[in-house]
Formats: sequence, C-alpha cells, structure tokens
Amino acid sequence: MKVLITGGAGYIGSVVTEELLNDGHETVVYDNLYRGHREAVDPRAKFLQADLMNGEALRDVLKKNQIEAVIHMAADALVGESVEQPAKYYRNNVAGGLNLLDAMRDCDVRKLVFSSTAAVYGEPEKQPIEETDPTNPTNPYGETKLAFERALNWFEQAYGLHYASLRDYIQLVDLARAHVLALTILDDRSAIYNLGCGGEGYSVEEVIDTVREITRDKSPLGLCHDVSAILQFSSPVQRE
Ligand SMILES: NC(=O)c1ccc[n+]([C@@H]2O[C@H](COP(=O)([O-])OP(=O)(O)OC[C@H]3O[C@@H](n4cnc5c(N)ncnc54)[C@H](O)[C@@H]3O)[C@@H](O)[C@H]2O)c1
Repeated sequence: MKVLITGGAGYIGSVVTEELLNDGHETVVYDNLYRGHREAVDPRAKFLQADLMNGEALRDVLKKNQIEAVIHMAADALVGESVEQPAKYYRNNVAGGLNLLDAMRDCDVRKLVFSSTAAVYGEPEKQPIEETDPTNPTNPYGETKLAFERALNWFEQAYGLHYASLRDYIQLVDLARAHVLALTILDDRSAIYNLGCGGEGYSVEEVIDTVREITRDKSPLGLCHDVSAILQFSSPVQRE
C-alpha cells in the first residue's frame, strides 16, 4: 500500500514508518519537524517537510503519490502543556486534523489509522479499560483527541471514510506494529481499539528500577536517562 504518515519524523511515527517499509509498503512522511527529526526518518521513505495547516501541500502529496491510506500521528501530545495552552492543542489536534480529513475527502483517500490515546478515558474506574467504557478526558490533550475521533465518525457517515483509532500506552515497537496491522481492517469497517499487553504491564518506574538493578547503577537515573531507549528494549511495557 502507498501510505502517508503524518508526524512520521516523531518518536513513534519514525518506527511506524520503518515497520511499514519492512512490510513492503511505500511510505511518504509528512512532518513540519516542529518536534520531529529528519534524521529519524528511514532513508527508504519519501519525506516532505510541511504543516497540517497547509491544505494545498496535503492535497498535493496525496495526489502526487497516489496515497491509499494515511496513518495520522502528527499532533501536540504533552498533557501538561495542553493544560497551559489549550488553544494550541485545539488548533493542531482538531483544526489540523480536520484539514487532513478535508484533503483526504477531496483526493478520495478513504482509509485512516489514527493515533489516539488512553487519555480519552480520563481517570478510568477499572482496569483493564474496555473500548466501551465511558470517555471523560481530564485535560485538553485527551479532549482534543476525543474530539477528532468523534469527527471521524461523522466523516465516515458523510463520506465513507474507514478508520481505526488506537488508544493506550504500550511498548514502542508493539505500538508501531499495531498501526501497521490496523491498516488491514480498513477495507471492511471502522473501529476503535484499546492497545494493551497480554499478562502483566510494567510502569516506566518499574522498568527503570529493573535496569538499575541489572546494571547496579545507583544514581538517580544513571544509565537510564534515556527512557525511550529503555522502552525500545523492554517488553511488555506500559508507559506512564
Ligand atoms: N508517546 C506516547 O506514549 C503516545 C501515547 C499515545 C498516543 N500517542 C500519539 O502518538 C502520536 C505521536 O506521538 P509521539 O510521542 O511520537 O510524538 P512526537 O512529538 O515525537 O511526534 C509528533 C510528530 O508530529 C509532528 N507534528 C506535530 N504537529 C504537526 C503539524 N501541525 N504538521 C506536521 N507535523 C506535525 C512533529 O514534528 C513530530 O515529529 C501523537 O498523535 C500522540 O498523541 C503517543
């Protein structure tokens, strides 16, 4: 499949791109590099530095590359910042997302995998959380992700968009694989999935403690200063 990955130069998007390429898909990364890194993008991928707000660039990239599906990961994704600057989150995560959906509709691209979040549930009443559990976000980050999910539902009804929306924290490569696998259901239906790990999950703190124990590093973070590196090598993991 020819797949556009918005936010494909980011922490998760760069791994999703690599996984797609390894599975034989053609990829185009669309990222404004506000937080992402050009060097994180697999050299086999095409790359366009552009913003979600640029509708013309979106239409152009979809048409020129005959894109068949989009994995939408470009967003602002920091809970604390979202509380301090809600408008920024509504602008990027909702208005920016709608720009993408408009461009997809205009270019007749009807498949979308959306990187949502467990933050749409707020403080869950029970674990594990089920997809049908009530959504009650407690910050603008979760609220804007939920708003975009709701828009997806209406775009499906109006324009026949098929989407998969993925919620939850799991280990990075598992998360990337889930995005690639979600592409395969889009011929038939739309769906929301909570992503979790079978069996027991681990918090970031537990992973750090274990690495510290193994490396016998007693400093506060010591060798573990790069939490993302640890997460790449630890599975199964629940990020907090
Ligand atoms: N990191 C997590 O644990 C986690 C968990 C659940 C969901 N998510 C979701 O996954 C996605 C990626 O998260 P991440 O941790 O890789 O974040 P990230 O900040 O590393 O990646 C986001 C990428 O999007 C790009 N971007 C942002 N706004 C853009 C815009 N307007 N136009 C073009 N590019 C833009 C950034 O430059 C960056 O490369 C986000 O949508 C986030 O909500 C992340």
